[in-house]
Amino acid sequence: MNNNLVLSIEGGHKIGGTARIAGSKNGSLAVLAATILNEGQSRILDVPDLSDIATLLKIFDALGIHVDYNSSTKKTLVDASEITSDSAPYELVSKMRASFFIIGPLLARLHRARIPLPGGCSIGARPVDLHLRGLASLGAEITIDHGIVEAKAQKLTGANIVLDYPSVGATQTILMAACLAEGTTLIENAAQEPEVADLVQYCRSLGVEIEGAGTARLIIQGQKSLNVDIEHRVIPDRIEVGTFIAMSAVTRCPLVLAPVVPEHLYSAISKYQEMGLEFEMIDQVMHVNPCDDLRPVSITTAPFPGFPTDMQAQLTAALSIVPGTSSVEETVFENRFLHVAELRRMGANIQVKDRQARITGVDKLLGAPVEATDLRASAALIIAALVADGVTQISEVHHLMRGYEDICGRLESIGAKAKLAPQNEVVRW
Ligand code: UD1
Repeated sequence: MNNNLVLSIEGGHKIGGTARIAGSKNGSLAVLAATILNEGQSRILDVPDLSDIATLLKIFDALGIHVDYNSSTKKTLVDASEITSDSAPYELVSKMRASFFIIGPLLARLHRARIPLPGGCSIGARPVDLHLRGLASLGAEITIDHGIVEAKAQKLTGANIVLDYPSVGATQTILMAACLAEGTTLIENAAQEPEVADLVQYCRSLGVEIEGAGTARLIIQGQKSLNVDIEHRVIPDRIEVGTFIAMSAVTRCPLVLAPVVPEHLYSAISKYQEMGLEFEMIDQVMHVNPCDDLRPVSITTAPFPGFPTDMQAQLTAALSIVPGTSSVEETVFENRFLHVAELRRMGANIQVKDRQARITGVDKLLGAPVEATDLRASAALIIAALVADGVTQISEVHHLMRGYEDICGRLESIGAKAKLAPQNEVVRW
């Protein structure tokens, strides 16, 4: 990926038509990690063409797992019948925190896994203590030496685990390891995110009995081995849906989004309804009807079914042009307001104190050169750019490529004036 690419967007144009929603990034990462459990072939459908997915597949390569990804059909074929290494390379794990989550299935398959400790990231410290405590409860011996976590266990044994916090990643790590543990594992205070429920679905198709998908109480009956040829379709990306809804809100233009599973984002839909938007669902097709008199709202991010932290930046951007005062409280990550400084450069009136942002709507935003600081912050800047006067140039777009497949193409397909070009190249539409 060329780090010098800049996404230029000319604001003030009408958008419309249908935006295709890609398969879930986070859902794909979890299900792909779980394919390590399967000695048979896993065919995973709707895996988006993203740099985070490419990173995970490179790690598979390093582990000797055979992978075939087709970026046109979005099909991934994983054959983990043989795994030749139990160690993931630092230069790949350091690129993407979620790659640490392979520690669970790798340990369960090979009795040993060596994974570099992920560092913090721009949105917070992001420890992995809950993952490691969960694996230790299943009988793993965990050591950390020179930044490498080594987990060893001749045998994993089911256990009752109560998570201090419903961490998505820790729930997934423990769930995957428990699939090959002897006996029953109970995870209490488990994350209830749709991506966890989808992972449960994949593991069930492998033949693991799991109760409680989508609830805070998962009961897993471990198996000796798993060897099934299966096909699994990843769920649509609910965060993309929320991002496109914000685009419709700020431009006041209707959009059609498909495919959408509305149950995956009720909390976001209800906030957008409170702002004045209307929605109509026909099968998996969502019609978003905007509103001319948007109203301010208060949101507090929380684990599912609460308002997702991954949609906070996008909504903050949308609220920056809503008359009145809105408030946004971030409870999941400690430092997730980096987009605010960039939005302010575009004229937004946002004050941040601790984990709370107070947004006073302005009449207009002005295009400016801005820097994407993380994945969802980049999406927030796109939303602001679509209504800003003039051109906004978003740099550091590699963040965007981690989570939004062909975003420039999809913006163009709904009529936005967007162009991805090397820095210093004059952009013309
Ligand atoms: C996943 C998502 C990410 C989303 C987040 C919350 C993936 C690949 N990423 O990240 O997009 O923003 O869920 O919905 O699916 N924590 C600990 N100890 C741990 C683990 C987590 O203290 O061992 C804390 C974190 O620092 C954070 C909170 O728990 O404050 C939530 O993190 P978690 O749910 O684990 O997020 P991820 O799984 O990393």
